[in-house]
Amino acid sequence: MKRIKGKTMCIFSAKGGVGKTITAINLAGIFESLEKKVLIIDLDFSGGGIALALNKPFEKNIYNFVDDYTNNRYHDFKEYVTHFDDYIDILPSPKDPRQGMKIDSKYAEIVIDKAKYMYDVVLIDTNHFINEFNILTLDQVDNILFMVTNDPLDIKNMRSLISIFKDIGETNYKVLLNNSRDPYKKYFSMYDIKNILKANIDYTLTSNFFIKEIDTYVMDGKIITLDKKMPNVFNKDYHTFMLIAKDLLKDTEEEINKETKEDKNE
Ligand SMILES: Nc1ncnc2c1ncn2[C@@H]1O[C@H](COP(=O)(O)OP(=O)(O)OP(=O)(O)O)[C@@H](O)[C@H]1O
Ligand SMILES: [Mg+2]
Repeated sequence: MKRIKGKTMCIFSAKGGVGKTITAINLAGIFESLEKKVLIIDLDFSGGGIALALNKPFEKNIYNFVDDYTNNRYHDFKEYVTHFDDYIDILPSPKDPRQGMKIDSKYAEIVIDKAKYMYDVVLIDTNHFINEFNILTLDQVDNILFMVTNDPLDIKNMRSLISIFKDIGETNYKVLLNNSRDPYKKYFSMYDIKNILKANIDYTLTSNFFIKEIDTYVMDGKIITLDKKMPNVFNKDYHTFMLIAKDLLKDTEEEINKETKEDKNE
């Protein structure tokens, strides 16, 4: 049987600090509970640090991969990833942003392409800049998860971003409204937000998911969605994460069924 390609998703936003990194980590936890092998690629070279958030010391990062790849020293992709647990691996961003600046945008494509043949799911966390690196990354992934908060400037910026995607005929995105980032901000109703965005909101994280002790989780390097209490305490939001995960995996199931049928017919 041929290896089914994993699904790739980039979490992107029009503004910084809307909850992309936390969401990438939480989604990884959900995929783990679905017994999927996940790689989180950290393309935020400003030193954001998925590995840092998950308390994982690492030796190699994406810069080492690129450096070895360019100089014919590359052997095995696994040499560059850091294990979080049995299901989740991380390809860390360089600690030194100067190394990040040296990474040519063409490597976004190479890294994602390699990763998708080794993992069921590849999640990409990045910054919100519309630069060549991020554009190529967005172009490369199966799905984009746009994150927006209930904030006028954020919503306006997201409207421009979505209109660019509509203009170029890209439709492989979903919109996640994050009400858990600033639970006290309630400028606009859902109706208003959809009207301003001129787009549908596919998923919402409720203000209930605002976690006061989030810093303790981050300090302990824990993933909230892997906490046994999560499905009960944050039932609605747990289901939202599950829905995002299942939507991403949907066509994979169809591909597997198709391949299995083809294999039987061979
Ligand atoms: N559910 C939540 N409850 C409480 N605080 C949250 C929640 N989600 C995110 N935050 C806080 O909001 C801040 C921004 O979150 P995060 O770093 O995930 O955003 P980001 O979009 O990745 O930011 P950047 O653009 O800088 O990479 C963090 O300080 C985080 O702790
Ligand atoms: Mg981030």
